[in-house]
Amino acid sequence: MPEYVGDDALVATQARIRDRQGRFANAPWFSNGGRIVNYVDPKPETWPQAREIAETDGLLGLPCVPRDGVEAMVETHLGPGWTPHYWEVFLGEAADVLPVCKEVIDSVALPDGWQVKAVLRADPDTVDAVQALNVATGLAPYPAYFMRGDGPLTLTVVIRARDGRLVATSSYCMRYHAQSRFGGIAFVGLVSVDASCRGMGLGKLANALAHVHGHRQIGCSGMMQFAAPDNTASHRMIGACGLTHHPEQVFAIVTRTTDRPSR
Ligand SMILES: CC(C)(COP(=O)(O)OP(=O)(O)OC[C@H]1O[C@@H](n2cnc3c(N)ncnc32)[C@H](O)[C@@H]1OP(=O)(O)O)[C@@H](O)C(=O)NCCC(=O)NCCS
Repeated sequence: MPEYVGDDALVATQARIRDRQGRFANAPWFSNGGRIVNYVDPKPETWPQAREIAETDGLLGLPCVPRDGVEAMVETHLGPGWTPHYWEVFLGEAADVLPVCKEVIDSVALPDGWQVKAVLRADPDTVDAVQALNVATGLAPYPAYFMRGDGPLTLTVVIRARDGRLVATSSYCMRYHAQSRFGGIAFVGLVSVDASCRGMGLGKLANALAHVHGHRQIGCSGMMQFAAPDNTASHRMIGACGLTHHPEQVFAIVTRTTDRPSR
């Protein structure tokens, strides 16, 4: 089981982010996203710390920032030579999202013998299978320690076919500091459905299961999800689970290279 996934530079970045966990415990404006540091609460006094991390890692996440302000903010605080990549923002209160997700769970029937699990401490085989499916669907997987339970509280959902093959996965993560502006908000994502099983409701089901089981086993007051602007299936999946699109905001990842870091 690889601890980290990607090329040498990505592996080194994921290891560095893990090493910063102690520092982040006292810095609510940062959040360990596993593959990236999220700078949750941009402020003039903490931008120098964020710049140092961005320059070391070659990338930085900016969750839920005003759509119109990203380029100017990056230019002002990071300087030239950075490429912003954007994801749409979906938000919901737990009280609104959970009843909708329960309806989704009741409405999607799995074929005979297929199994669902939602675990806080994934075993090595599950971690391997989830990472492989995420890579196959174009997503950057969480490092193994997240799914093992050694990072921010994370719940992993797996749906397996009768023969044991992993066909869908999703994740729920309490990655934001309790004292940050997203204290109490869970991040739900990394939803992947095997290409041979798309369009049968598995994405909606996996996503809904992450919300319901994550809330039950970890707890939260609200949920957040992101989707690439052109990922219609993901937009519909998230909307079907009761979250609302907030087009005035974006999740931005700024990178040193022009490559988009995940789907
Ligand atoms: C996004 C993804 C998880 C959806 O899984 P899925 O099992 O195919 O989706 P579902 O069958 O549950 O359908 C979910 C909704 O999307 C719609 N949908 C599914 N595929 C679609 C497509 N290709 N185009 C447009 N809408 C689509 C469905 O009609 C449904 O909407 P509805 O409830 O309003 O009818 C899957 O396409 C995938 O693994 N993509 C690659 C990884 C990815 O992008 N993950 C999301 C990251 S945020």
